[in-house]
Amino acid sequence: MRILVTGGAGFIGSHCAKRLAAAGDEVVVLDKLTYSGNRANLEGADVEFVQGDISDGDAVGGAAEGCAAILNFAAETHVDRSIFGAAEFIETDVLGTYVLLDYAREHGIRFVQVSTDEVYGDVSEGVSSKEDDPLRPSSPYAASKAGGDLQVLAAVRTYGVNASITRGSNTYGPNQYPEKIIPLFITNALDGESLPVYGDGRQTRDWLHVEDHCAGVELVLREGEPGGVYNVGGGEEVENRDLTARILELTGTDESLVRHVEDRPGHDRRYSLETSRLRSLGWEPRHTLADGLPETVAWYRDNRDWWAPIKSGEYLEYYRRQYAARLS
Ligand code: NAD
Ligand code: DAU
Repeated sequence: MRILVTGGAGFIGSHCAKRLAAAGDEVVVLDKLTYSGNRANLEGADVEFVQGDISDGDAVGGAAEGCAAILNFAAETHVDRSIFGAAEFIETDVLGTYVLLDYAREHGIRFVQVSTDEVYGDVSEGVSSKEDDPLRPSSPYAASKAGGDLQVLAAVRTYGVNASITRGSNTYGPNQYPEKIIPLFITNALDGESLPVYGDGRQTRDWLHVEDHCAGVELVLREGEPGGVYNVGGGEEVENRDLTARILELTGTDESLVRHVEDRPGHDRRYSLETSRLRSLGWEPRHTLADGLPETVAWYRDNRDWWAPIKSGEYLEYYRRQYAARLS
C-alpha cells in the first residue's frame, strides 16, 4: 500500500516509516524539518521524502497523491516548549490535523492520528486511563493534541472518514531528539553535565519502546476500527528519580550529577494506560526497560555524531532558556 507518513523524519515517525518500507509498503514522508526533524533519521531507508508543512493544503495534496492511507506523526511534541508558547502547537497539532483529515475525507482514504496518553491528564495511583475516559489535558501541548483527536472523532461521525486514533505512552529508543528526559539525561551524563530533575522526581511515566509503539500504530493502521481509539502503553511505570538512577548506572556516572530543580508548571504526576483493546488485536510490548534502556544508552554512546551537532545553535538557546535559571 502507498502510505503518507507525516513527521517521518522525527523520532517515532522515522522508525515507523522504516518499518513500513521494510514490510513492503511504498512510503512517502512529508516533513517540515522543524528543529526535531532530521533527514539523517531516514538514512538508507527506502522512502520518498517531501519537505513540507501539514497545515499547507497544497503540500499535503502533492505528497498524498496516490496514497491509500495517511499516518500522522507530525506534531510539535515537547511539553516544556509549549509552556513558553503554544502558537506552533495549535498550527501543527490542530490545524495541520484538520488539513490532513480534510484530504482523507475528500479522497476517501484511511487516516491514523498518532496521539498521546497526555490527553487524559494525570491519573491517581491504582487507576489506568481507558479510551473512553474524558479528555483532561494539562499542558498547552496536551490540549493541542486533544484538539487534533476531537477533530478526528468529529470527522468520523460527521463525514464517515475511515480514521482511527492511537494514544501512546512515553516512548524511548534511538534517534530521539535530546530534549526529552531519556536522551537528555543520557547525553548530559555522557558529557558529565547536570541532570535537571523537576521537583521531587517522584512523577511516574509509563515507558514504551519505540519499536513497540510502531508495532501498535501499524496494527491499528491495518486492523483498527473506523472511529476506534487505541491506547499503546508499555506498562512499565517508573518514577523519574528511579529512571535517573538507572541512567547514571548505565552511563557509569553518579548521583553528584543530579540536580533537583524548579518543577514544570502544571506538571502531570502520573500516567498509566489500560491497553486491553489493542491487545485484543494481538499486540503486546516485546521490549522492557531492562533490555531497551541499556540498548538505548549504547546507541547514544556509539552515535555521538548524530547528537553532538544537535546540541548547538537553537538547541543551546532553548537549553539556556529552559534550564539556566533553574541550574544557577
Ligand atoms: P518529534 O518531535 O521527534 O518529531 C516530530 C516530527 O514532525 C519532526 O520530524 C518535525 O519536523 C515534524 N513536523 C513538525 N511540525 C510539522 C509540520 N507542520 N508539518 C510537517 N512536519 C512537521 O516527535 P516524536 O516524539 O517522534 O512524536 C511523533 C508523534 O507521536 C507526535 O504526534 C507525538 O504527539 C506522538 N507521541 C509521542 C510520544 C513520545 O513519547 N515521544 C508519545 C506518544 C505520542
Ligand atoms: O506521555 C507521552 C508524552 O511523553 C508525549 O506525548 C510527548 O510528546 C513526550 O514529550 C512525552 O511527554 P513528557 O512531558 O512526559 O516527556 P519529558 O521527557 O519531557 O518528561 C518526562 C518526565 O521527566 C516528566 O515527568 C518531566 C520530567 N523531566 C523532564 C525533563 C525534560 C525532568 O524531570 N527533567 C527534565 O529536564
